[in-house]
Amino acid sequence: MNDSDPTQVKRRDFMQLAFGWCSALFALGASAVAGARYIVPNVLYEPDQRFKGQKPEDYPEGTTFLSDIRVFLIRKGNSFRAVSAICTHLGCTVNRGADGHGFHCPCHGSQFSDNGEVTSGPAPRPLSWLLVSLSRDGRLIIDASQPVEAKKYLVI
Ligand code: FES
Repeated sequence: MNDSDPTQVKRRDFMQLAFGWCSALFALGASAVAGARYIVPNVLYEPDQRFKGQKPEDYPEGTTFLSDIRVFLIRKGNSFRAVSAICTHLGCTVNRGADGHGFHCPCHGSQFSDNGEVTSGPAPRPLSWLLVSLSRDGRLIIDASQPVEAKKYLVI
């Protein structure tokens, strides 16, 4: 190789040029990835918390445990309400009291009244009452994302 030939690219120049182009391409790629990430929203998609049950007349008088969603549906005549069976201590599933009143957690012994209030044990909060509504086709909908007061009923 002749060092005096101006048309010849020196090895050092070639390496600098290649490094420069690689750096520019990397920066462009990183910008594109960052731009694409900016367009995608930071959203956590959770499953729908509404449960569509059967028609009101399909549920018997008293308490029905809906194991799929861990909810007690309580029917008194034409009125319906639903309470979460998830213990507010550490999330175990509570049972109905042996005498058909109140709720009892088998894990650490929390007791809840018929209205879901804590009567004993480590549970820090009452059980959650959930919104019950009627769908267009006449079936019950229980919305676990909508807590309501204990005395709120759906009357049909
Ligand atoms: S999980 Fe119910 S009392 Fe602990």
